[in-house]
Amino acid sequence: MIQRRNYIPLLILFVVLSSAARGQTGLGTLKYDDFKKPAFCGASCHTDFHQQWKQSMMSQAYTHEWDEIEYFKLAVPHAEKDPKVAEVKAGCNGCHAPMSFVSGDVPPPLPGKNSRANESVSCEVCHSISGFAGDTPFNFNYVMKPGKTKFATREGGMKSPAHEIEVTPIMKTGDFCGICHNEKSPYGVWVKSTHLEWKEGPYYKEGVQCQDCHMTKAEFKTASMGKKYPDAKLHLFHGAHDPGKVRGVVELRIHPDIREVEPGGTVKFTVALFNQKTGHKFPSGSVEDRIVWMHVEAVDAKGQVFHVKVDKKGFPGEEYLIGGDVLAYQDMGIALNDPAFKGVQRDGIPAGDRIFRMPYFDPQGRMTMQQWNTASLGVDYRIGPRETKIETITFRVPDTAAPGAMRVTAVLNYQLLVKPVADFLGVPASESQIVRVNDHTTELTILP
Ligand code: HEC
Ligand code: HEC
Ligand code: HEC
Ligand code: HEC
Repeated sequence: MIQRRNYIPLLILFVVLSSAARGQTGLGTLKYDDFKKPAFCGASCHTDFHQQWKQSMMSQAYTHEWDEIEYFKLAVPHAEKDPKVAEVKAGCNGCHAPMSFVSGDVPPPLPGKNSRANESVSCEVCHSISGFAGDTPFNFNYVMKPGKTKFATREGGMKSPAHEIEVTPIMKTGDFCGICHNEKSPYGVWVKSTHLEWKEGPYYKEGVQCQDCHMTKAEFKTASMGKKYPDAKLHLFHGAHDPGKVRGVVELRIHPDIREVEPGGTVKFTVALFNQKTGHKFPSGSVEDRIVWMHVEAVDAKGQVFHVKVDKKGFPGEEYLIGGDVLAYQDMGIALNDPAFKGVQRDGIPAGDRIFRMPYFDPQGRMTMQQWNTASLGVDYRIGPRETKIETITFRVPDTAAPGAMRVTAVLNYQLLVKPVADFLGVPASESQIVRVNDHTTELTILP
């Protein structure tokens, strides 16, 4: 017995070493023909999953307009000029067009050419992944084994007529998603950390995976000729581009310190903002693009509207967290061949509104939305999973306010991409439309 026990650590060591030795699937190590097309998977077998996937961002990771503009107008020209970021010319595709990356087709043809790059994050990309290299999933460190065997998670499921199935437990966990949902810039800064945020938060501790919110379980068929399972994993992948997913992420409650006040008097409001929906911070992912802000307005009995500014808390770096009329994003000038580029408006929202974000800075310390050119990060003022943030507002009631009821509303807004940047680069308006996350109203009486 004692003899045999001694073999167990050795066996573990062997397994650990052999998995560490399995390296990341690198640039140009495979070919497109190793992968089947999504239309093949979806034609008669996985018809519903295929249609769900088609409506998600996964199927558009390469073709979506903003991705095309950022890659071809900014990232590629920048990578060709600046050796420090040269790697992103290929690297962006490691996550957005993985088949092109592993086939060495970089940069891939423009989306208009309808090449296989357009398949984006396809069925075969994910179902060829057997694991990742190293300890932390990030920067497309997948190990891919395309072929007859598909990697999946269901034990004892039905046999497929088209392929073999190998169960790989990692696909059940958020670590699988982290392969593409964590990103380090060439400066070594975590510029995308959805998986790391989740790991630090309450959901990971409770065993809630990314899949539980983005691939929800339902009684459903996983293939049209198969049987219904009670817990089929729907391929919804809905996130920031689904306004319904964003709505209600944060709940707001606003209250005043006094209920009756004369014109010229001062009222102090407190707003509690509770993140009840995300498993990571809000916003997460492409934090450099996203803007979440709170706008507060008072409307008196006559319908006059007063914009109420949030109180400053006074910590260093807060200037990036209050709406202001300042320029930023000067480093777009590198790719645009305009070294003296003055930048564009930083926020494009009313001055004085509270912004929930984490600013990214280029090597010169200017705010950037180019995550690959990010050398440092500012204060992280996003709303964590199940966190409640408190804001205060000191409001001097204008002398002209009408007596009677005054309604004060706090609104939380969301934009995928800061509007001045979207307008400057010609990104379609859908990317900068304002989504109302939530609102709440309280009432005061203005005394005569
Ligand atoms: C091979 C890389 C890769 C893997 C693995 C991956 N994703 Fe993604 N995912 C992407 C890319 C790239 C996008 C961005 C698409 C776009 O907007 O261009 C994306 C987008 C998304 C979105 C949509 C976000 C939005 O803005 O609407 C969600 C949700 C999402 N992924 C969830 C997941 C989950 C959950 C997993 C794990 C089960 C996962 N992803 C695994 C690459 C990947
Ligand atoms: C972003 C990665 C990703 C993409 C793209 C993707 N899948 Fe999946 N798929 C998964 C993961 C992860 C699971 C297992 C989830 C779990 O067990 O929690 C899964 C499970 C499945 C299952 C088994 C479901 C079950 O409940 O047993 C089928 C079938 C499937 N995928 C087919 C497809 C098809 C077909 C496509 C393309 C239309 C596709 N997948 C695209 C990640 C992906
Ligand atoms: C408790 C549910 C929950 C869990 C767990 C969860 N998410 Fe989300 N996720 C959401 C909601 C709600 C949104 C929409 C709000 C938003 O955009 O942040 C979202 C948004 C996203 C977005 C878009 C983020 C943005 O702001 O652009 C991505 C990408 C994403 N999730 C990926 C993941 C990944 C990867 C994991 C696991 C590491 C995960 N999610 C875990 C609920 C969840
Ligand atoms: C490690 C994987 C990874 C790498 C490398 C990567 N991305 Fe992404 N990218 C993602 C994921 C995942 C998302 C979705 C995040 C979210 O929705 O918040 C995304 C989102 C985006 C978006 C926003 C899409 C939208 O509509 O909001 C753009 C644009 C983009 N990436 C361009 C690039 C460019 C250009 C590069 C190279 C400089 C690059 N990405 C490198 C994974 C990656």
